[in-house]
Amino acid sequence: MSGFTAFHYQDGELFAEAVPLKQIAAEFGTPCYVYSRSALTQAFQAFDTAFANRDHLICYAVKANSNLAILNVLAKLGSGFDIVSGGELQRVLLAGGDPRKTVFSGVGKTTDEMRQALAARILCFNVESEAELAALNQVAQSMQTVASVSLRVNPDVDAKTHPYISTGLKENKFGIPMTEAARIYQSAHQYPHIRFTGLDCHIGSQLTEIDPFTQASSKVLGLLGTLQSQGLQIEHLDLGGGLGIRYRDETPPSIADYVATLCANTRTIKQKLLIEPGRSLVGNSGILLTRVEYLKHTPAKNFAIVDAAMNDLMRPALYQAYHAILPVAQNPADTKNYQVVGPVCETGDFLGHDRALSLDTGDLLAVMSAGAYGMSMSSNYNTRPRAAEVMVDQEKIHVIRQRETLAQLVAGERILDE
Ligand code: LLP
Repeated sequence: MSGFTAFHYQDGELFAEAVPLKQIAAEFGTPCYVYSRSALTQAFQAFDTAFANRDHLICYAVKANSNLAILNVLAKLGSGFDIVSGGELQRVLLAGGDPRKTVFSGVGKTTDEMRQALAARILCFNVESEAELAALNQVAQSMQTVASVSLRVNPDVDAKTHPYISTGLKENKFGIPMTEAARIYQSAHQYPHIRFTGLDCHIGSQLTEIDPFTQASSKVLGLLGTLQSQGLQIEHLDLGGGLGIRYRDETPPSIADYVATLCANTRTIKQKLLIEPGRSLVGNSGILLTRVEYLKHTPAKNFAIVDAAMNDLMRPALYQAYHAILPVAQNPADTKNYQVVGPVCETGDFLGHDRALSLDTGDLLAVMSAGAYGMSMSSNYNTRPRAAEVMVDQEKIHVIRQRETLAQLVAGERILDE
């Protein structure tokens, strides 16, 4: 189920490493995100060892889960980071991440964010338009420095994933068309405060086939050849993130096969390889623990109303995403077909439809594969304070984010004086 064994049953009880999930619910309440340090570590090491002797840098995509403890564990393993905002840069620095291993992606970097990133001396900006390049040149000039840049190109490849998370088609807002990239690289003399050091692409997320990655890398390698024949010194090739995970019955390539394919596809070049994995590092390293508040049986459906909602885990509502939902205490008797829903006032507020479960009020459920794009996409909709987060390390439980309080939630708000 998880791809790793961190979440497993022992005598009918679901555990995170050596800790029973029911203990976490009793001590810290629900809803609660639970992460496994060993699953996270194993996923990182699977990437790192698969690169073997190839010069590489794994830049974890912070947006997938930006908790400082997650970033810190990865930093200690040697990870770099892929950020998309000044806020994410601050998180990397607070977590002890190395700015020299950090790349800055995104179509809409503000000049203020550029300034912060230049001051922190990040490795590279992944630039997505000529307008952005001109703005970055000016900011670097005002700081009397030079910005290292990769152009993110759009290879026009179908990632065959959900349309909202497909980014490498020519109609998407991302990247620079392949047909324009060489001209822009050649215009370097117009930008004295820019140094082109890399070439970048990212075609989408939750890819379950290897072929789109191969198509993208072959197009990008063609461009790299052109740039080199024109005398440009490109130091690294960034192939983005996007490797899918198993939520249900998908069969994505393993981390080892994916990396081996990237290495094989690029065996003719000497450049350092960068990748920006998010989901494949943290997705199956975390679950969302929730409690059944009420059971409601109507003539049409059986509802299990739980204390986690779309504000805690938005993926089912937003992408019709499937997350497995497992009972924390197995009970094979009297299984019914349940709609697992939250308390938020929207029909779109569900965690899972048509799940065969045997439930009583007060039972605990684990929403699986929730480590990526779970907490990081959570909101306060319906004035719901955000969930607690804990990280399990063998038999130890570390609270890595306290449950939000109502006071924190309204702290910035003011009523009118009159
Ligand atoms: N690099 C760039 C430039 C990206 O835009 C992304 C993700 C990544 C790397 C990491 O991709 P990953 O390895 O995680 O697939 N909220 C959606 C996913 C959005 C992905 C956005 N970009 C979801 O919950 O499925």
